Order: sequence, then C-alpha cells, then structure tokens
Amino acid sequence: MFPQRRLSRLRRTPALRRMVAETRLGIDDLVAPLFIHEGLDSPSEIRSLPGVVQHTLESVRTEARHLASLGVPGVMLFGIPLHKGSDGSAASDPDGIIQRTIAALKEDLGDQLVVMADLCLDEYTDHGHCGLLTPSGTVNNDATLYRYAEVAIAQAEAGVDVVAPSGMMDGQVAAIRDSLDEEEFSQVAILAYAAKYASALYGPFRDAVEVEIADGGDRRSYQQDPANVREALEEVRLDVQEGADMVMVKPALAYLDVITKVRAEHDIPLAAYHVSGEYAMVKAAAANGWIDGPAVALEHLTAIKRAGADMIVTYFAREIAEAMQ
Ligand code: PBG
Repeated sequence: MFPQRRLSRLRRTPALRRMVAETRLGIDDLVAPLFIHEGLDSPSEIRSLPGVVQHTLESVRTEARHLASLGVPGVMLFGIPLHKGSDGSAASDPDGIIQRTIAALKEDLGDQLVVMADLCLDEYTDHGHCGLLTPSGTVNNDATLYRYAEVAIAQAEAGVDVVAPSGMMDGQVAAIRDSLDEEEFSQVAILAYAAKYASALYGPFRDAVEVEIADGGDRRSYQQDPANVREALEEVRLDVQEGADMVMVKPALAYLDVITKVRAEHDIPLAAYHVSGEYAMVKAAAANGWIDGPAVALEHLTAIKRAGADMIVTYFAREIAEAMQ
C-alpha cells in the first residue's frame, strides 16, 4: 500500500539534490570556440549565432583574457582569412590570421589558457571543402594530408598547445603527429575530431566562417553518416592508434549514444562539440519566449557530461562561466 522505497526523499531540498548529484557541470569542462576574421576593423555579429561574433585580432585578445579570468581553461580558434584559394594556403601562412592569433594569445596569457586551433582547410579554400580537390572535384585525401602536416607546423611554430584536426581525412592524425615530431614539436597535443558526422547542425558555423560549399556540394563523402555508430568506434580506434591525445564526438546531443560508447571503450580524454546549430536552436526558441534558454543550455550540457564527455566545446562557454561565478 505504501511505497517501500521513496527515491523522492533525496530530492526534497536543493542541498540534498546537490549532494547526490551524479554529474557536475563546471567551468573546467568548458572550451570556447572563437572566430577571428582577418578583414575586420571591429567585431561583427553573426546573425545565426546570437551573442557570438567574428573577432578582430584586438577583440579576441580581450575576449580570451575575459574567458581566462572567468576560469575557462581552453579556447578553440577558427580563422577567417581575407583571401581564400584552391589550396587554402592562408591556413599555413606563418603570418596568417590564425597563426597571429595563437601567438598573441600565448603572449598575453601564457599557460593560463589552453590554446587550441581547428586544423582544417575549409575556412581557407574557395570551394569550401576540407581538403584539396582532384580535377574532377572530389576530395583528394592523401594530397590533403601533406597540407594538414604543413598547417600543424605553422600552428605549432606560432605556439599552439593543441591542434584539432577536423577534416575527417583518413590518416590525418598519423600524418600530423609524424610531422610535429619530426620538427621537434612533440609537446603539441592532438585533439582529433574523431567521430564527426555529416550533420545539418553546422549551418550557423558556415555563416561564421563564411564558407559555402561549391556547386551545392556537401561533406558526406568524408564525414560520417548519422546512421552509424560502430563506424564511429572504428574511427576513434584508428585515431587513438595514430596518436591522438584526446578525441571528440561531434555534434553532441543527437550523438549521446556515441559519446557513451566511446567513453566505455577508451580511457583518454573525450570531448564533445555542442555545435552551432545546437546553440542556435536554443537561442532562437528562447528569443521567442518558448523556452527558458539558460535552463535548457544547462540541461543540454549536463546531459552531454552525463553521457560521458570530459569537456564540451560550446558557444555557451562564456555565458555559463559568467553565471557560475
Ligand atoms: C570544419 C569544422 C566545422 C565545424 C567545426 N570545424 C564545419 C564543418 O565540418 O562543416 C562545425 C562547428 C559548428 O557547427 O559549431 N573546419
């Protein structure tokens, strides 16, 4: 007649709930993605990512200082060059925007902030693909590896702590690790975007980096099919074998099962990328008054941690870190 066990006893007060919480989201879990545009005089808002801007080299320094003072441990940098070309040469230019940003942030903040850089070509190519193209317009995996190796060296020379290859080329982690080690950058770590899906949730990001894939193309021939999870585990295994120090699953919320399975199989740090579309959906619904935006954001990020992620790359990083002060 009366319930034998009342689980509600431990839900009675906020302090009780805090005491028995299984998952804790903290500032240390957050990594802030930052966009730096070479051609701007002042920061420019990104329409589809409310609250996120394309920075200038000056404004990103201010933002990074602020993030570090809030206690956010790391940032992920994305550069938008003035000129895009077929081989994305600006990505490895020692004077390119991403390299200058890395050097500036290391100069300002030293080891107080982990400076990570997205390592890909799509922000730098005129066709918008993540690699070099063959004459027939398909991505040339193996030729791209040489370019990634060059980009890694340029970022390492600028002082980057972690390179984060996101192009989903086969063999990219090994190619980058080899070239870093050869050039005596054995201390530079690799965060591999290991299980990265061909997702429709990257839309606002492409506004942020001004990428349009040529001829209405997509990335389905190199990013993963959302239908697959065993394939994701194989991607992660290969990246770990090739020398990844940390791996990432991306996007996050539609792939919590992938996060959980990777966590169960691997002991190295696991990141999840709560991507632009995931952020934009929360912001848009909140702007309409349909949901409580900050509450949904916390619920989403807590769920990503509960699934097994150690850290979350999220556009909510600053907002949440400010709220947690
Ligand atoms: C590729 C890259 C992308 C994102 C991060 N790195 C875009 C893509 O693969 O098309 C997406 C991140 C987001 O949507 O927030 N350089």
